[in-house]
Amino acid sequence: MLSTQTLIAPSLLSANFANMGAGLRLIEEHGGDLVHLDVMDGHFVPNLTFGPQMVRDLRPLTRLPLDVHLMMDQPERHIQAFAEAGADSITFHVEACVHAHRTLDAIRKLGKKAGISLVPSTPVVLLEGILAWVDLVLVMTVNPGFGGQEMIPDCLDKVGALIERRRSSGASFLIAVDGGINLSTAHLARRVGADILMVGSAFFNAADPRQVVRSLKGSHIV
Ligand code: DX5
Ligand code: ZN
Repeated sequence: MLSTQTLIAPSLLSANFANMGAGLRLIEEHGGDLVHLDVMDGHFVPNLTFGPQMVRDLRPLTRLPLDVHLMMDQPERHIQAFAEAGADSITFHVEACVHAHRTLDAIRKLGKKAGISLVPSTPVVLLEGILAWVDLVLVMTVNPGFGGQEMIPDCLDKVGALIERRRSSGASFLIAVDGGINLSTAHLARRVGADILMVGSAFFNAADPRQVVRSLKGSHIV
């Protein structure tokens, strides 16, 4: 089922890694709809973050969905560990996985929502053939690896192409935008029809994170 209101998924990448529980509470208490967890392997992307243990430790602390974004090579080697740790959705990169169909199928068989992501240089056509097995398409609007980068607005054209594909095929996957979402760019992502906005630095660096969530949802004029 498609959502009617834009959902906001703050990313713990911009939280204090020495106190992730506090970051999680900030998300819960300020209206986040999902918790975005950026997993980086130092190989597919030039940065390292955390593994399934982080998901396991956060799981009992919240009822919000834990949305895991795997920025790693050979994600198929780790999906079971993230599923067992308590992830609700697991998204991997089509560029990092030759057998994307098998991996999507495996995620669903583990009872989780299956997501596929595209870096800025990857066209939507690469998803042709697997969209029927996808619950979420995560359109990257920065080159993945770091929070706090500027959005590449051209990437948003992919959202329209995906909406068209969704309509013509009768599929029901959600479309998320990730990277450089803030008070000045969120309306661009909403305007093209994104269902979910991932947000790191603009949420965690805000003086009033609740107001940021409201603004990103478009429920008040900035
Ligand atoms: C980038 C990550 C994003 C990032 C978003 O590699 O996938 O989720 O944390 O952070 P901001 O909102 O600061 O661009
Ligand atoms: Zn992410």
